Parts: sequence; C-alpha cells; structure tokens
Amino acid sequence: MDKKKIEELVKVAKKYVWTSLSDYADIEKELKIFVKGEGCYLTDIHGKRYLDTFASLLTTICGHHRPEIARAVQEQMEKLEFFPSYHDCYTVPVIRLAEKLASLAPGDLSVSFFVNDGSEACESAIKMARQYFWQKGEPSRYKIIGRRYSYHGATLGALSATGLPDFAEPFQPLLSPGFSHAMSTWCYHCELGLEPSSCNLACLKNMEQVILGEKLETVAAVIVDPIPGSNIGYPVPPDGYLQGLRALCDNYGIFLIFDEIQVGFGKTGKFFCCENWKVVPDFLCLAKGFSGGYLPMGVVIAKSEIADEFRRAGKDFRHGFTFSGNPTVAAAVLANIEIIEKERLVEKAATIGKFLKERLKGLYKYPIVGDIRGMGTLWAIELVANKKSKVPLNPKLKVGTYIRDHCWKNGMILRNNGDILVIAPALIITKSEVDEMIRLMEQAIQDAIKHFNL
Ligand SMILES: Cc1ncc(COP(=O)(O)O)c(C=O)c1O
Repeated sequence: MDKKKIEELVKVAKKYVWTSLSDYADIEKELKIFVKGEGCYLTDIHGKRYLDTFASLLTTICGHHRPEIARAVQEQMEKLEFFPSYHDCYTVPVIRLAEKLASLAPGDLSVSFFVNDGSEACESAIKMARQYFWQKGEPSRYKIIGRRYSYHGATLGALSATGLPDFAEPFQPLLSPGFSHAMSTWCYHCELGLEPSSCNLACLKNMEQVILGEKLETVAAVIVDPIPGSNIGYPVPPDGYLQGLRALCDNYGIFLIFDEIQVGFGKTGKFFCCENWKVVPDFLCLAKGFSGGYLPMGVVIAKSEIADEFRRAGKDFRHGFTFSGNPTVAAAVLANIEIIEKERLVEKAATIGKFLKERLKGLYKYPIVGDIRGMGTLWAIELVANKKSKVPLNPKLKVGTYIRDHCWKNGMILRNNGDILVIAPALIITKSEVDEMIRLMEQAIQDAIKHFNL
C-alpha cells in the first residue's frame, strides 16, 4: 500500500476507532495496522512480519489462516448464517458442538450454555449459581467469592468478581455487597511471606476463612482461574490447592466455578486446565482459544445435575444474549476442535511446552530475571531489581515496556504487564520459532540491562 494511503488510514483510525484499553501514548508513537496472518506470524500494513508470542490475545491457538475453518464458516453461512439459540429453538452446529463438548469435558460437565465472549461466560456462570439457589428457596445465598489478582471480565458482575483494583477503580462502586476476595496462589509474592514447601496451603485456609467470614448460608459460589492469568503471569497453584478447594466447596455446599477462558483449551498440555489436578468444577467457563480466534464465542459448561435442576423445576434461566449460540460461530468452533484433534495439538503443547521451559530457564543468567513460571505454552518472566530479596524494578523506568518495544521493533509481538513479560503462543509453534522467540527476547533483555545500567 502506498505511503499516502497508509497515512490517510492512520488519520481515520485515530479519529474514529476507539480501541479497548487504549494507550494513547503508544498510539501517538506508532499505531499498528495488521493486514495478514499466517500460522504464528502477522504482517502489518508496511509489510513487516511479526512472530506473535501471545496468539492474538490468547485466541489463535491453531494459528492464523486455517482454510478448514474458513470453509466451515462459509458452508454454514450459505446454509443458515444465524438463528438464535433461545426458547425451544436450536440449530444443527450448536447441537453438534454441545455434544462434542460433553464428550471432551471432564466428569459430568455436559450441558453447554453458549455466549459470545469470556466476560459473558463468567457473568452467566455467576447468574446460574445465584438463580439456582433462588429457585431452591435460598435467595439469601447469593455471594460470590473470587480471588485477588484474578481477572474474570469487563461486565459489572464479572468485574466485581475480579480482584484487580486497577480495572475496577473507574467503575466503583461495583456490585457490592455480594462479592469478596480471598488470597491468590501467587507463591512468588505470597501475601503471608510463606514458602510453598512449608506453607501448608495457607491460601486454601484463607479461602475457607473468607467463606465463613461471609456467613456460609449467604455464599453461592467460589470463582477461580485455576492458573491465574497474564496479569500476574501464570503462577501455577501449589499441588493440593485446587483439590482442597473442591473438597471445601463440597463440604460447604457451594458451587465451584472455574474460569479457564485464558488457560483452557490445550494450552497447559491438557484439553482443560483442571485436568492437570483431576478436579472437576460445577461450571467451566471457556472463550478465547475456544473459537481459535476466528469468531467470538464463549461457553459455560455445567454439570448435568445442575442443568437438570433447572429443567426439573420447569424454570427457564432468566438470562441470555441475542447472539448466544450462533450457528456460524459454532461451525467455526467445531472446525477448530477438529484441527486440535487431527493435529494432536494438546499433546504438542505439552511437548513444545517442555522445550519452551528449558529454553526460557536459560534467561535466569540475567541479573534482572527473578522468576520464570508457567505450564505448557503459558509462561511468564518476572523482572526484578534484586533476585534474592525480590525487590521490584523501579516502575518509573518501565523496563518491561522497553523490552516489549524492543521486541516489536525487531519483529516480535511480546506482551508485558509492567515488569512481567508473558508469552502464550499458538499451540502450533515450532522449535525453531521458539528459538527465534528466545533469541529476540534475550537481545531485548541484554539491551535493557545496558540501557538502564541494571
Ligand atoms: C481469565 C479471564 N476471564 C475472563 C476474561 C474475559 O474475556 P473477554 O475479554 O472475552 O470478555 C478474560 C479476558 O482476558 C480472561 O483472561
């Protein structure tokens, strides 16, 4: 595209498009317009290629440009582009997708409520839990317990369950009372200053205290992301925590909601993240990679006994969205799952994850690399000023952002949350692409050390 046309597009973009979580300083510096995707690579309007280490915001797990998905979408569009899933109306791809999910999901998670994204999935699971108790004659059981540092979405309910104050600050007061937060499983920064080897799962004890502190008879559900997401860089929970949480919820008659929107669908080397600990929640929320990034869709998969409770009572779930259960999107999701199975991408994620882990561990040689953590294809590198004391870098220096920009300049999309660098590439990433990723990241870290004299 010629220079003049690009300049005109940039002007129009700045004037008329409001991107989410816009960083106007970055937009002013240089906004990026992408025009093409192929596998793990994207091409911008200037023809520059980028290795995408964050799978287009954790979505394109099978890579870009999969003709199988495009074909499935076109075929469905030509038959019936859309009819909603509501009342007594179904469409064939939605039925087949729900059947497929029932066969994949662990335990008796088998009834799917389709939505359009992750926020809607968490919002829906929260409302399912609340309505369940309301129709059982326990309307005072409405509280939801989340955890600090977890993100569950942008809608007010999901945001109220979120434990990241920065996201909530402009929208206070949130939906309160009704939401409380327990400790996270961020062991590197344990709130109690304990070590995983000797803490006796103090975070689980804390969850129990929060539940009891709210008065048991008022609590409907606990919502957690089994591995907290990119905001704090994938701290894998200590073994026993999720099993203990399941036992706790069972013991107290509370629902357990797992938000696997970011960490589910193959990324941990299992189809569902919870399978790593053999724990089955009552509601499982999926989105992002669930549709391979092709079209928007999320889902709440509920245990059959819970869905049956609604059916038995002849009560409708008084909640839904016009575009819930879009047949064209369902066809795309089915094609995405077919690729994952045919190319054995879950097993591949486990194998490439081990390789990635080994290559990443090499970065410990740098004085600012404090912690490297993750699982499967989900990894984070936390930068610090002092490895031993874990003293953070001066946030005003913006070292993480400097490293991110260095990578972008050199043809690699890297995500940072302050001084935590996060990577979550497509499951199809190859060993040579991993090598390229590490090479560019290492260059950027070396440059930052020199630049800031660290
Ligand atoms: C763990 C988790 N839950 C929920 C959401 C919300 O999903 P969406 O942005 O699709 O609404 C996200 C999005 O980043 C997420 O990472």
